[in-house]
Amino acid sequence: MSAGSSRSAQLAQLARLLVDRVSIGYTSARGEQVLAVRDLSIEVDAGEFVAIVGPSGCGKSTLLNAIAGLTEPSSGAISIDGNPGAARLGKVAYMQQRDLLLPWRTVLGNARLGLELAGTDRHIADAAASERAERFGLGGALGSFPWQLSGGMRQRVALLRATLPDSGVLLLDEPFGALDAITRRDLQQWLAGVLERAGRAVLLVTHDVEEALLLADRVYVMSTPSGDNKPSITARVDVPLPRPRREETVTTPEFVALKAELMSALSATAPGPVPAEAP
Ligand SMILES: Nc1ncnc2c1ncn2[C@@H]1O[C@H](COP(=O)(O)OP(=O)(O)OP(=O)(O)O)[C@@H](O)[C@H]1O
Ligand SMILES: [Mg+2]
Repeated sequence: MSAGSSRSAQLAQLARLLVDRVSIGYTSARGEQVLAVRDLSIEVDAGEFVAIVGPSGCGKSTLLNAIAGLTEPSSGAISIDGNPGAARLGKVAYMQQRDLLLPWRTVLGNARLGLELAGTDRHIADAAASERAERFGLGGALGSFPWQLSGGMRQRVALLRATLPDSGVLLLDEPFGALDAITRRDLQQWLAGVLERAGRAVLLVTHDVEEALLLADRVYVMSTPSGDNKPSITARVDVPLPRPRREETVTTPEFVALKAELMSALSATAPGPVPAEAP
């Protein structure tokens, strides 16, 4: 075992989700090798809520796709519950940035999909999905098809589907992006409460700095890989604010100071991907 992989194995025992020095490349339309993520390390423990903020195009969705097992990193290791390797698909619940609802299934059919795939009895899955649908404001829409819903409703169905199975790791890519401010705050509160009790490891990608600070125990700032070989994570801000954090929390001096720190780290991030250096 190499020094690198034994370090990975040791760290992995400490975290439910460990991303250890991961780089992810792709081939551009012009045939060049481009790095979307460079040398990125993060960890999320059971019961922890971690957020990533970063400019558009810095590689956030690319990273979540790799954690979910939809793609493989070019280098580095991703471990779930101490198991490095490729068998991640199905071990994480993933709400992708685009809602990806199945058009031929109703709201209820879409919502229970994750439970169904995990082998839960159809009637039990239906009951669980229907019960939680009320809280998501979808109680009256269980028989509707995705094309009959607004963008915000589709997003709530996708969030409902991702949070229903009791998987250990939950990845959320801009889950509240298409929601109005009130629904957004309400579902944020709900998510914070439910996930705190469930002991899950949650990784949230968001553009909204206040959302990150209201929900997360720790926020990582991610930058677009540039020519200077620096890792994609350029700052880490711990959020020691007491819970529950409510709407009023955003006006406290502690919150305002953390927001200023995060905004300043964000404004230092560089836009646009660059060609990978020659091997
Ligand atoms: N397979 C691929 N083919 C072409 N380009 C890719 C590929 N994978 C990633 N990219 C590029 O890598 C960069 C990162 O994309 P990604 O979708 O991860 O960004 P993001 O941080 O999620 O952005 P946003 O906040 O807008 O959702 C973008 O410039 C994207 O075009
Ligand atoms: Mg994205």
